[in-house]
Amino acid sequence: ALISMRQMLDHAAERGYGIPAFNVNNLEQMRAIMEAADATDSPVIIQASAGARKYAGAPFLRHLILAAVEEFPHIPVAMHQDHGTSPAICQRSIQLGFSSVMMDGSLGEDGKTPMDYAYNVDVTRRTVEMAHACGVSVEGELGCLGSLETGMAGEEDGIGAEGQLSHEQMLTDPEEAADFVKATHVDALAIAIGTSHGAYKFTQPPTGDTLSIQRIKEIHARIPDTHLVMHGSSSVPQEWLEVINQYGGEIPETYGVPVSEIVEGIKHGVRKVNIDTDLRLASTGAVRRFLAQNPSEFDPRKFLKATVGAMRDICVARYEAFGTAGNA
Ligand code: G3H
Ligand code: 13P
Ligand code: NA
Ligand code: ZN
Repeated sequence: ALISMRQMLDHAAERGYGIPAFNVNNLEQMRAIMEAADATDSPVIIQASAGARKYAGAPFLRHLILAAVEEFPHIPVAMHQDHGTSPAICQRSIQLGFSSVMMDGSLGEDGKTPMDYAYNVDVTRRTVEMAHACGVSVEGELGCLGSLETGMAGEEDGIGAEGQLSHEQMLTDPEEAADFVKATHVDALAIAIGTSHGAYKFTQPPTGDTLSIQRIKEIHARIPDTHLVMHGSSSVPQEWLEVINQYGGEIPETYGVPVSEIVEGIKHGVRKVNIDTDLRLASTGAVRRFLAQNPSEFDPRKFLKATVGAMRDICVARYEAFGTAGNA
């Protein structure tokens, strides 16, 4: 059944688990997520980015999610719009039937320009007023995603600040977070702790200086009743980088957010964990390997099926590690 994200995150907070929010663009990703949720008895957050809406079209995405609800009626599903850059965009998603929206007021309408606090409060508060009147949940964001190593936002064609970010912008301030939640009434708050979107988060495994789980603890201590959201939370599996590079890919050495660090965050108020890149890497590795090993094969269903299996394994592992399993 389609349920609001607030309801789902409240349950997660009561029981102390986290929920991965996977980005969806196509049928294969959807099948992988739902089959993994079914196998582990997990609630599901499906999210669609602006890029996904551009790729598949909003009606196709909507019906893909509705099809998932129809085929797996026993699994609770929240249909979330990822990184909305204006109240108008959030309003359109609400009209389409999304049960949750993200108003990312940390960046301007172009998704690239860091905005000031007053702007962020204004657009987020207006979105909450509109969404709550329709029973729809809202995620806000305070602080800008960016690598504490490089000062760069990370994503090339998606959502991400252009140019260099300051250390201060990349670490959400606990006092400001308390004020922001009070002023906007958001259901969940995305925070900046040194992660960035995409595969290139860290040039070496992160330490406490480049990934601040400590900051999560400080924010959670200040606003214990607010559901925290970690963006840029792909772990960038080294085994999939190896498969990709073994079969013709060229991905330089890079590291993501270790699952163990996310689990530590979940102990301190993190309830929603955004993951896109890991499924992309698994999918690409599976296609490259399948086509290299089966050079005469030309039925796309064969290699797409290999991608579903690869992505499903990652989803199962996250549902189990985050404690989501068994909570559907
Ligand atoms: O926000 C970042 C997500 O990974 C979505 O990326 O805009 O390329 O779909 P995308
Ligand atoms: P990754 O690029 O780390 O998968 O992050 C996805 C994300 O935060 C989507 O909003
Ligand atoms: Na989101
Ligand atoms: Zn994000």
